[in-house]
Amino acid sequence: MSIYSSEIILRTIDFVRSKSEGESSGHDWWHIYRVHKLAVYLAKKENADLFIVELAALLHDLDDWKFNESGSQQALEWLNKCDIQEETAHIILSVINQVSFKGAGESDKTDTLEARVVQDADRLDAMGAIGIARAFAYGGFKNRELFNPDIRPEIHENFEAYKKSCGHTINHFYEKLLLLKDNLHTASAKILAEERHLFMEEFLSQFYKEWDFTGKI
Ligand code: ADP
Ligand code: NI
Repeated sequence: MSIYSSEIILRTIDFVRSKSEGESSGHDWWHIYRVHKLAVYLAKKENADLFIVELAALLHDLDDWKFNESGSQQALEWLNKCDIQEETAHIILSVINQVSFKGAGESDKTDTLEARVVQDADRLDAMGAIGIARAFAYGGFKNRELFNPDIRPEIHENFEAYKKSCGHTINHFYEKLLLLKDNLHTASAKILAEERHLFMEEFLSQFYKEWDFTGKI
C-alpha cells in the first residue's frame, strides 16, 4: 500500500471515530474498530484488496438503514473529499451497500471477494460474547424486553418484515444471530465463527435454565 493510501486510511479512522463516538445502539466506534481489524485479518488470509476492504469496513455503518434513509451519502462525500478515484469510490460504496443483514428470507447478495470479506467481518462482530452484548445493548436502546416466553421468534420473509419486527432480544438470536454461521462466505471467517456460535448456544441454554428454575419456585 502506498504512503498516500495509508494516509487516507488514517484520516478515515479519525473521521469515523469522531462521527461514531458515544453511539449507544451497538454501532459505536469500537464496533467499527473491531470490524476494521477483523476485515484486515480476513482480507490478508483471502487475498482481497486491502484498500477497498479497509475503507468499506471503516465507513460501513456511517449511513445505517435503521437510522438513516439516505443511503451511503456520508460515505460518498467522504470518499470525494479524499480524492478517491470515481471508479474505486464506486466499488467501495457497492461493498458498503452489500454488508447489512436484511432478514432471514433475504439472500446475501455479494458480488466481490471484498464485499464477502467485509460482510463476514461485520457478522463475526454480531456473534459470540460481543454479539450477545451488542444485541442486548441494541434491545435496551429500543426499549425491548430481554425475553418474553409468550412471543415466539419469526422468520422474516423479507427486509420490510425484518425492519418492522419489535420482539424481545432473545428472539433476535433465532431471527439473526444463530443464522449467521451458515451464511458466512470465507473459509477463515467460518473457522472464527465456530467458537462464537457455540458460545451463543451455551448462553441460551444457561438463560433458559435460570428462567425455568425461577418458574418452578
Ligand atoms: P451490523 O452492524 O452487524 O450490520 P445491525 O446494524 O443489523 O448489525 O445491528 C447492530 C447490532 O444490533 C448487531 O449486533 C445486531 O445483532 C443488533 N441488533 C439488530 N437488530 C436487533 C434487534 N431487533 N434486537 C436485538 N439486537 C439487534
Ligand atoms: Ni456493522
